[in-house]
Amino acid sequence: MSDGRSFKISLIAAVADDRAIGRDNDLIWKLRDDLALFKRVTVEHAVVMGRKSFEAIGKPLPKRRNIVVTRRDDYSIEGAEVVSSLDEVYALFADSDEEVFILGGGEIYRQTLSDADYLYISHVHSEFPDADTHFPEVDWNEWEVSEEESFPQNERNEFAFTFKKYSRKG
Ligand SMILES: NC(=O)c1ccc[n+]([C@@H]2O[C@H](COP(=O)([O-])OP(=O)(O)OC[C@H]3O[C@@H](n4cnc5c(N)ncnc54)[C@H](OP(=O)(O)O)[C@@H]3O)[C@@H](O)[C@H]2O)c1
Repeated sequence: MSDGRSFKISLIAAVADDRAIGRDNDLIWKLRDDLALFKRVTVEHAVVMGRKSFEAIGKPLPKRRNIVVTRRDDYSIEGAEVVSSLDEVYALFADSDEEVFILGGGEIYRQTLSDADYLYISHVHSEFPDADTHFPEVDWNEWEVSEEESFPQNERNEFAFTFKKYSRKG
């Protein structure tokens, strides 16, 4: 929740019906329309990710301020800022009115959900029993949908999904 701060915290994730988000430090699906949407929403913004998600992506995302969270003190990345806590992330934006995007993964979503102002969720309409990483449980009563768009399964998207932007109820 905002707690009087001026910057906004947004979690962005693709989440299956059983809350699966990943397996073997990778995504479980190929959803080209979701990747396009992810780019459109996050470009020119700051993006925050856990060290494991950064390694899954493999390089800083272009045209975004990349911030990677790790407890390792010997970690550095060309083209990204490395910080050692989420408080350190929040301190970077303390005096700004930026919208900061949390890209995951599971560990980072779990620690930031209660601070989030917005959720950008692509609900993937399938279940993945062999997933090893999950989005935290969300009390959807606390959220209202402000945008929604459905995407069918087709040659671009392995699974049908529905994108919804949620705002925390006032
Ligand atoms: N479906 C989606 O939208 C989506 C999005 C993103 C990721 N994913 C998937 O999620 C999986 C990765 O998620 P994950 O939960 O395993 O890892 P993660 O959240 O990406 O990264 C975890 C790492 O972040 C660092 N960390 C976590 N909390 C910290 C804190 N409070 N302070 C400092 N550092 C902290 C630690 O790094 P150190 O070990 O270096 O200390 C920790 O090992 C992958 O399968 C990925 O593909 C899916």
